[in-house]
Order: sequence, then structure tokens, then C-alpha cells
Amino acid sequence: MNKIIVLATNNKHKIKEFQSILSKFDIEIRSVSDFGPIPPAIEDGETFDENAYKKASHTARILGLPAIADDSGLVVPAVNGEPGVYSARYAGENATDAENTQKLLEKMKGVKDRRASFKCVISLAVPSGPALTYEGQCDGVILEGPRGTSGFGYDPVFFFEEYSKTFAELSMEEKNIVSHRGKALAEFTSEIDKVVKWLDQRLAEEKPPKPDHSQFSHNDWSKS
Ligand code: IMP
Repeated sequence: MNKIIVLATNNKHKIKEFQSILSKFDIEIRSVSDFGPIPPAIEDGETFDENAYKKASHTARILGLPAIADDSGLVVPAVNGEPGVYSARYAGENATDAENTQKLLEKMKGVKDRRASFKCVISLAVPSGPALTYEGQCDGVILEGPRGTSGFGYDPVFFFEEYSKTFAELSMEEKNIVSHRGKALAEFTSEIDKVVKWLDQRLAEEKPPKPDHSQFSHNDWSKS
């Protein structure tokens, strides 16, 4: 029987990416939405590691199945590591990519040291808690204005020196090879045999996982 791993996101792009990468292995990737709405994980960690783990273990515990999650963002040392774990909501809870990018550009007006890194952490957790973690990083510099139209988020201002282009000037294939997420995923798949063995051992040691129904009394249900 195939092993099931639940992907703790409803982002269709990420689900497709994981499914296509893992299609050659004996693993079935399912989305949380296949199981109906569950309460959202509280992403209040101070690091990408913490938030990736919170999302993965929350979903694993509730559904009684192994779950995988990723967390990523942009880190700019000259402005104290901002936007960091707040990358998605830097200019406010429902801010657009353009608003977040504009806030960063304003914060960096006159700043000479424009080095920046995209970081991504992938966490695979089993229902009883233990997890495996994979990381990827991509270094670049922040331009003074946007360039290019592809990608998302901070891509138009993230200049990747090796290619002399911003991430928004790269094709998705080019970006995936060098990006933080591409590297973290490559690290994960490079040891997929070990991952599968680890999962087999952890799940055999656990009592048959019972879904954590206590979470379902939560009022703040989310479809995301
Ligand atoms: P998530 O955790 O992968 O959903 O990403 C959090 C936020 O970090 C996004 O909303 C973007 O603002 C930013 N981000 C993460 N990865 C990228 C990327 O590859 N390009 C541009 N922005 C990114």
C-alpha cells in the first residue's frame, strides 16, 4: 500500500510541485483540503524552522498521518533581518506583494549594504511529534526598484548576481534550480530512501495514530 503524506498547504502550485517530484516514489501526496476544513496552525514562531514544524506537526496530529510543510521568506541583514518570518504580511495582514516590496524599498532607501537571502525550511512530522528538517538558501542583493514580471513576492527586487537578473526575469525552471525552495526540495529528495525508512520506523513505533478530534471543537475553522 502507498504511504500517505499530507501536504499542509492548499497552495495548488506547491501541491503539484510536491506530487510531481515524489511521483516516482511509493508515496501518495494528499492536500489537507482532501480531509475537509481543519483549524489553521498558529504561525507565531520566530524562525522559519519553528513555523514549518508548527504547520507540519499540527496537521499530522489532527489527521493522524505524516505531514509535510514549508515556510520561507526574505532576510535582509542591513535591516535587522526583516522582513523574515513576516515576509507575507510585512506591510500588513492582507498586504499585496507590491505593498510588501514597496515597504522594503522604502526601508532600504540610502542603505549601502543591500545583501539579502531567501530562505526555505521544509519539515516532515509524524503524529507523535518527531520531524525531519531540510533547508535551502539563495543569496542575492536588493535593487532600488523592481525589474521583470514573472514569479511572485519579492522576486522583482531580488537580483541574482550569478545570472545578472532578478528572480522576476528568470523562467520558473531557471529559478527552481537556484532558489531556496528548489534547494530544500532537492535536499529532501536526495535522501528520499532514508526518509521512507525513517517514516516506516517512526510509524511502526507509534501506537496506531488516533486523529486528535479535540482540535475540531475549535471555533476558528479555516478553509485555507
Ligand atoms: P511561504 O511561506 O512560502 O508562503 O512564503 C512567505 C512569503 O515569503 C511569501 O508571501 C513571499 O512574500 C516571500 N517569498 C517566499 N518565497 C519567495 C520567492 O521565491 N520569491 C519571492 N518571494 C518569496
